[in-house]
Amino acid sequence: MTASPTSNRTPDHPIERFFLDRWAPRAFSDATITEAELLALFEAARWAASASNVQPWRFAYGLRGDDAFKAIADSLMSTNASWAPNASALVLVGAKITLVRGGAEVVNPTHAFDAGAAWANFAIQARISGWETHGMGGFDVAKARANLKISEDYALFAVVAVGKLGDKSKLPEALLVREVPSQREPLANRVGHGFFPA
Ligand SMILES: Cc1cc2nc3c(=O)[nH]c(=O)nc-3n(C[C@H](O)[C@H](O)[C@H](O)COP(=O)(O)O)c2cc1C
Repeated sequence: MTASPTSNRTPDHPIERFFLDRWAPRAFSDATITEAELLALFEAARWAASASNVQPWRFAYGLRGDDAFKAIADSLMSTNASWAPNASALVLVGAKITLVRGGAEVVNPTHAFDAGAAWANFAIQARISGWETHGMGGFDVAKARANLKISEDYALFAVVAVGKLGDKSKLPEALLVREVPSQREPLANRVGHGFFPA
């Protein structure tokens, strides 16, 4: 039996193994994902919490081979462009920057926070449904905006690759050595009782 890729991860406090098993691979198989399978992942994102329940998150997706996929892939920066187009789907994640309050259009200060919560739900549901996800900030925002005709009313945060784990030996050498689940800072470096650790 082959060891789980995430068997190198151990929590400092007891948590569900599930959280350790989510990681961001770059080696994807040629699996296809159906629109129904992908929509189920967005359904999980839909139920994330958001300030005033405005649900500012927006997702634009493409399935490998279709025009939307090509439009998103075209915005990826060089290293990401070398592996992410093998994924089954690419998802552009953004959020509406403003909301209407008292009849006026004002900046929604938590639009990014809320979109992050929705992407986390998406990634968790993906794991539950047998899919892997890999978020990427390395994309050309202006190109994605132009390719998908998205106005400046929306902030763009990331492209997410969705797929099934593939053969990592096909990755370029520089990525092959990085194809291992990462570790984390000790909790005390990120969480303080009454303060933010430096
Ligand atoms: C918003 C965001 C942007 C990221 N950008 C990139 C990227 O451009 N390229 C890449 O290969 N990985 C990218 N990653 C993946 C992170 O490097 C990865 O999630 C992190 O190292 C933790 O590893 P894990 O997800 O495997 O646990 C990004 C992740 C997030 C959430």
